[in-house]
Amino acid sequence: MEHFSYQQILQALKKTQEEFRFPGTKLELISEERFPDIFKAVEECFLTDEPLGKSMEMSWSSDAENLWLSALRYRMSLMAVNEKNGDIVGFRVIRVTKQSDHFNNDEIKDENVRKIVDLLEYSSKNFNFFANYDISEMFEFFGLGVIPEYRRHGLGTQV
Ligand SMILES: CC(C)(COP(=O)(O)OP(=O)(O)OC[C@H]1O[C@@H](n2cnc3c(N)ncnc32)[C@H](O)[C@@H]1OP(=O)(O)O)[C@@H](O)C(=O)NCCC(=O)NCCS
Repeated sequence: MEHFSYQQILQALKKTQEEFRFPGTKLELISEERFPDIFKAVEECFLTDEPLGKSMEMSWSSDAENLWLSALRYRMSLMAVNEKNGDIVGFRVIRVTKQSDHFNNDEIKDENVRKIVDLLEYSSKNFNFFANYDISEMFEFFGLGVIPEYRRHGLGTQV
């Protein structure tokens, strides 16, 4: 899967865009120049509202940013943007995860990010989904968010 070309990603995007319907918004790939905006959206959705982040009273850190970057770098994540002003109103971060992939916990200073990474490692080991599905890599939905003003109208379902 690591050999996906940008062209193939664009083809998949086109198909997905054809199915996406939410008034006043369009679906786009998250490009590198939108990373600062996506970090703001992640901060808004995950620190205060995502149950895990909320329970740990997480704050944004360079380690948190690096964790999201580790998925964004696959260049296949999606954002829903307001057609009029380009604001990000929802996102679906997607990565490719291989059986051999491991997070390097030693470099993480932020204790909460470390806990999240431990949880990811724990679930990947104990739920054994690679063996269960007889696969060695997979598309992983890493994070879903809709900014508060747009919630409960079906955008999360669409994204
Ligand atoms: C979770 C989230 C993406 C939902 O976005 P949304 O646009 O409001 O979702 P939708 O309107 O498409 O609702 C989808 C379903 O979830 C339900 N739902 C949405 N928010 C909910 C909440 N806070 N509590 C219970 N159910 C909820 C809806 O009722 C709907 O169910 P239904 O189809 O049976 O009616 C959004 O609340 C969010 O960004 N939360 C913070 C980040 C997070 O927790 N992400 C998920 C983990 S990765």
